[in-house]
Amino acid sequence: MDPVKKKVLIKTYGCQMNERDTEALKVLLVEAGFMIAEKEGDEDVVLLNTCSVREAAELKALGKAGRLLKKKKTHANYKVGVMGCMAAHKKEVLFKKLPGLDFIAPPKALHLIPELIRQSYVGNANQMAVPEPASFNFSCYEHTYPKPKAVAWIPIQQGCNMACSYCIVPRTRGEQQNRPFNSILKEVQEAVQWGTKEIILLGQIVNTYHDPDSKKNFVDLLEAVQNVEAVKRIRFISPHPAFFSSQLMQAFKHLSKLCPALHLPVQSGSDRILKEMRRAHTKAKIWEIVETLRTIDARASISTDIIVGYPGESEEDFQETVALFRDIKFDMAYIFKYSPRPLTWVAPQEQSLMGIPEKVKEDRNQCLLNILTQCSTEYNRQFMGECQEILIEGKAHRGEHQLFGKNIYNKKVIFAGPESWINTFKSVQINKITASTLEGKVVEDCGALWDGINNSEQG
Ligand code: 5AD
Ligand code: SF4
Repeated sequence: MDPVKKKVLIKTYGCQMNERDTEALKVLLVEAGFMIAEKEGDEDVVLLNTCSVREAAELKALGKAGRLLKKKKTHANYKVGVMGCMAAHKKEVLFKKLPGLDFIAPPKALHLIPELIRQSYVGNANQMAVPEPASFNFSCYEHTYPKPKAVAWIPIQQGCNMACSYCIVPRTRGEQQNRPFNSILKEVQEAVQWGTKEIILLGQIVNTYHDPDSKKNFVDLLEAVQNVEAVKRIRFISPHPAFFSSQLMQAFKHLSKLCPALHLPVQSGSDRILKEMRRAHTKAKIWEIVETLRTIDARASISTDIIVGYPGESEEDFQETVALFRDIKFDMAYIFKYSPRPLTWVAPQEQSLMGIPEKVKEDRNQCLLNILTQCSTEYNRQFMGECQEILIEGKAHRGEHQLFGKNIYNKKVIFAGPESWINTFKSVQINKITASTLEGKVVEDCGALWDGINNSEQG
């Protein structure tokens, strides 16, 4: 098999970790001599990078794999593979439901995929599965995809050691493994050489990070990234509320590049449900974090993840979530209807009397979405008429000459401008707001609004 002639398409589902794995795999494939197909149609090999966090995501990927496998009838030697979280816990199911499937590779086998594709062509082997390696090979991430981009997502850990009762991730991605400090900094250096200005540190529970080879912790890592001259903004996702140290809270004050925008997965506003979920935090801890951050920056953006309809969630429990949601005024939130996941601690209870009817889940979901629309609109209104420093990320899907970028509060801003501005900072005067975006026009200069980007080459 000549890999140079084979074109590989990767379709990605789920979270940013999967997006980043896809990006890393593209680099590995190119290094191994494959070509990358950017859109469906002329590929020889298709890989589905799957998500298992909710059933709907799995069903979507299964349906897609079934449709793609039909291409085998007209395209000799067409190969279909499944990677990502489903490949870790659904191997037998996948091979049974999709008999034509060529191979399966769990997240820890990312670096083995180019060889797996090669093998699938040798003797036209079918239904191949790589045995899961004991650990993740972080060096996969040290070569960023050679394409300039304003924002780089940098994985700092894999897996999770928590035992939240609803979550399948510890089953699919395994035990928490922290990436060596130097490997992270190497990727940061690589990214800034490609023009990156903003670094987002990525992990299942980023604030439990510690270097496997030294005593350095997450705040030491934030400080090291802050010290990289060409980095202008830093964010992280996702932290766990239970592991917020005062050292981390104070980092928002001391580290000028650390953006005042925190994603804080709360999951529920009821201490009873939080305990059932084995979340290891309480409502009081959430308030402590929120209030501390708002003392540092009154405008700090605070977003969250919430699950509605968790088994046994009573109306009173839900009303506690409503109250927390309304009182904190999250400016962004991902609201999920509880989805039973095999192998999780709570899944069997969904089948018992504890399960919440779909209609109730839907109503609770809608109730929170309505509050969110009000809170995010109110939050965004404060920027009306103001000048904001925007890091421009790309073209907006709004027609010709429309760009988008973000302010330090992680709010998306749309405005007119040439493509040559992508990956630079511009001052934008906000003249329109909605619940999800801000719009405006580029002006000469906002003045010194925020210390973190005062020294950047603007424009
Ligand atoms: N059902 C619904 N939502 C879930 N999440 C995790 N597991 C489930 C589940 N079984 C949500 C949590 C988590 C986010 C990534 O997905 O809110 O923070
Ligand atoms: Fe990402 Fe979680 Fe989905 Fe795996 S299960 S892809 S870690 S969101």
